[in-house]
Amino acid sequence: MINKKMSDALNKHLNAELYSSYLYLAMSAYASFKGLKGASNWLYMQAQEEMIHVKKMYEYIDSQGAQVVLQAIDTPPSDFGSPLELFNSVLAHEQKVTGLINDLMTLAVAESDHATQTFLQWFITEQVEEEQSVGEIIDRIKLAGETGAGLFMIDNELGARVLAAPVE
Ligand code: FEO
Repeated sequence: MINKKMSDALNKHLNAELYSSYLYLAMSAYASFKGLKGASNWLYMQAQEEMIHVKKMYEYIDSQGAQVVLQAIDTPPSDFGSPLELFNSVLAHEQKVTGLINDLMTLAVAESDHATQTFLQWFITEQVEEEQSVGEIIDRIKLAGETGAGLFMIDNELGARVLAAPVE
């Protein structure tokens, strides 16, 4: 059983994960519209991965005898600029989410909620991986350039992403 303060915070974060999925779906649509089919695929997979995070959060709140309470999802932007700006926005968003997860962990520690601390550990590891993988894409776009053959090569690589099963 988790206390009300903790379940309220987790429900708020559930909404942030839903927004993440919505945001990446908007980015995927933007990339496709701009002819970047590989980037669009990568972002679409990312949107689906965020729904795995939503599912984990949902199931944990429910398993702790608290009520999952859904809230409105904000409207994401529809213009994300150049390919580099697009992936810089992905990284900035993931850094923000990392901060939110850290805040949840700080609360779980303050509330002596050991079960939630264990649960959140998975998300902490996941955020390290997400920031790293997006950081590598940004580095490669900078190396290859945002036009011509370089961008074509990067876009092809991003097109190869498939949804990986989550590690438990
Ligand atoms: Fe659910 Fe990308 O953090």
